[in-house]
Formats: sequence, structure tokens, C-alpha cells
Amino acid sequence: MSELVYTFRLATAADAEALQAIYAPYIETSITFECTCPSVEEFRKRIEERVCMYPFIVCEENGKPVGYAYASRLFAREAYAWAVELSVYFAQDFRGRGLGRVIYKKLLDLLTLQGVRSAHGKVTEPNEKSDKLHLAMGFRLVGVMDNVGFKLGQWRDVAHYEKILGDFSCPPAPVVPITELDPEKVKAILEAVE
Ligand SMILES: CC(C)(COP(=O)(O)OP(=O)(O)OC[C@H]1O[C@@H](n2cnc3c(N)ncnc32)[C@H](O)[C@@H]1OP(=O)(O)O)[C@@H](O)C(=O)NCCC(=O)NCCS
Repeated sequence: MSELVYTFRLATAADAEALQAIYAPYIETSITFECTCPSVEEFRKRIEERVCMYPFIVCEENGKPVGYAYASRLFAREAYAWAVELSVYFAQDFRGRGLGRVIYKKLLDLLTLQGVRSAHGKVTEPNEKSDKLHLAMGFRLVGVMDNVGFKLGQWRDVAHYEKILGDFSCPPAPVVPITELDPEKVKAILEAVE
């Protein structure tokens, strides 16, 4: 990967159109279980809902978004507050360049700083790139949910990956919203060259 071409920053609602365009082609695959492409307005709403609590990172090539990754709560109920689910999408021409690992590392570092204890990934099989990404980043395969979805004329299996980010030896402090982290620490993670 050539240095300093790719940069990483937190997303804003103004990224909705560019990120929706990156996501749209995957609607035609089993990678996402969403079957209808969300409008730009819906995408904007989703970004706005997420950025106040969790990292939502955009990867740019020379200032143009080419991929993104974000965290959201794994489950809504209160006691699940320390577990998140990750999502990551790169534009089709930008896959396989090592960017998945770079953006995941930044996401996981920010989540650790927030006090999140575990990160989870759900991968519709087959998806060799995503399986390899999760294993390369230290996730373990928890199990496979057989035939849990039906898309594009087929029943689909989903693999569940988990990575532990903190220790479980004592009760946790509340997760610190991304907006309340030390901005210098956030900047250092986003700008770190892996
Ligand atoms: C999944 C995705 C985020 C991975 O990011 P990436 O930048 O392509 O992956 P990386 O280049 O960082 O490589 C990660 C691992 O996948 C492997 N990989 C990359 N391209 C591959 C390919 N075409 N076939 C098989 N393995 C591949 C790499 O070798 C690496 O494994 P390693 O560390 O064991 O060598 C990216 O491919 C993507 O956006 N795919 C479409 C959307 C998607 O599937 N999102 C995940 C939904 S669960």
C-alpha cells in the first residue's frame, strides 16, 4: 500500500451520498441482508444516529471516500452496552489492498479507548475476504447460524466472529461516547500509519 494516499477520518452526515454509492452494489449480493437500497436521506439518518456514540470511519483516497467502517450496538437491551457489531464496506475496486485491516485496526483501537469489551462480526457465507479479515484481526469464529436468511433465491448461512477488547475481571464503567474521547487520542488513532 503506498503511503499517505489513503487517509482516515470520522464520518459526518455530509458523507451520506458518497457512502450510499459505495454500499449500493452490495445490495445485489448476499453480503448484506438488506434487499432494497436505502435512500441517501435514510443513509444520512443512519450516520447521524451512529456518530454520537460509536466510531464511524471513512477511508479516502486523495480526499475521495473509497470505504467506511462503523460500530453499532450488538443488541439494544441495557446489559449488552459493552458489545458492538462492526460493519465495513469498500468500493469494489478498493478491495484486497490491505485497507480492510487498516480501518478495522483503527475502529478496534477507538472502541477499546471507549471501554467497549467485545466486538462482533456477522459474515454471510461464502465471503472469503471477510472471513480472512476477521481471522487476521484476531477474531475467533463463535459459530455458524445455518440458513438464517433467504436472499437471491437461496438460504444463507451467517458466521459469527468475536474479538475480546477488554477484561472481564471487574464491573465495567459506562462506555464513553466517541464524542467525549480526548480529540488528540482520536486523531492519533485515525492518523496512525500501520
Ligand atoms: C471484506 C473487506 C472489508 C476486506 O477488506 P480488504 O481491504 O479487501 O481486505 P484486506 O486487503 O485488508 O485483506 C484482509 C484479508 O483478506 C484476504 N484477502 C484480500 N483479498 C482477497 C481475495 N480476493 N480472496 C481471498 N482473500 C482475500 C487478505 O489476504 C487478508 O488476509 P490475510 O491477512 O490472512 O492475508 C472488503 O473486501 C470489502 O469491502 N468487501 C465487500 C463488503 C464486505 O464483504 N463487507 C464485510 C461484510 S461482513
